[in-house]
Amino acid sequence: MNTTLITGASSGIGEVFARKLAARGRNVLLVARSEDKLITLCNELGRSNSIRAQYVALDLSEPDAAERLFAEAEKRSLTIDLLINNAGFGSMGDFSQLDLARELNMIDLNIKSLVELTYKFLAPMRERKQGAIINVASTAAFQPVPFMATYAATKAFVLSFSEALWEENRPFGIKVMALCPGVTETNFFEAARGKKPPARVSQTPEEVVDTALKGLARGKSHIISGWTNFFLTQSERLAPRSLVTRVAGRMMRSQHGD
Ligand SMILES: NC(=O)c1ccc[n+]([C@@H]2O[C@H](COP(=O)([O-])OP(=O)(O)OC[C@H]3O[C@@H](n4cnc5c(N)ncnc54)[C@H](OP(=O)(O)O)[C@@H]3O)[C@@H](O)[C@H]2O)c1
Repeated sequence: MNTTLITGASSGIGEVFARKLAARGRNVLLVARSEDKLITLCNELGRSNSIRAQYVALDLSEPDAAERLFAEAEKRSLTIDLLINNAGFGSMGDFSQLDLARELNMIDLNIKSLVELTYKFLAPMRERKQGAIINVASTAAFQPVPFMATYAATKAFVLSFSEALWEENRPFGIKVMALCPGVTETNFFEAARGKKPPARVSQTPEEVVDTALKGLARGKSHIISGWTNFFLTQSERLAPRSLVTRVAGRMMRSQHGD
């Protein structure tokens, strides 16, 4: 059964991906830690669309999580033809004062789990010569972000990794795309235990997901959601990196009152 696998589907951007894709008639396999939210969402999606909505409650930062998820999809005889690696979180503050275990856990989720899931689900896509992967990065991928140092670095990895795989997999008919949202109205900043940074534009997750699905249909290697975000990331490319980092640092420092 052809199915879209969405990680981090219990809220925010992932939940909206699930709603929009189910409305387009796609079966979904939803993953997050909050089982209660996944059960409610699956029941709702299955009732209101003629699709199969299933879930796996899993902490994807655990070492064997990707292996377990792949095995579970096989056990259920699901053909994952669209993988959306969306689960992720951030942290805010002076790196030297942050909890190291949490920073490392972020790398496990934002990078390690994403790489493992991509590797595992890409193999059968390559055999079928069909499939697509969306990896959720961020506009933070385009420059260092002081006071969100680890987070921005994880997203720089996701952007670079996805663009490289886009090129490697083009001859096999498989699309790989990095989605780069800017500030989006979700639980992200609550989960990051920080204040929303000043942003000229804040988008809804619906806007972000619409942009992503259009970008994927066009076979893009990456897509930046929102015109303001697009122009900001492009303008930064012309300036010296040290200047861009200092400006970002000034904006973020004001958030922390340092
Ligand atoms: N919001 C923004 O401004 C923004 C901007 C750029 C990029 N992004 C990226 O967008 C993606 C989605 O975030 P969001 O904004 O929608 O925030 P969100 O509402 O906090 O959603 C995060 C999702 O990830 C899941 N998750 C967190 N830790 C997990 C773990 N260890 N194992 C499995 N699932 C886990 C959460 O579910 P559970 O808690 O139930 O596990 C939730 O479903 C993230 O990769 C984020 O970095 C967000």
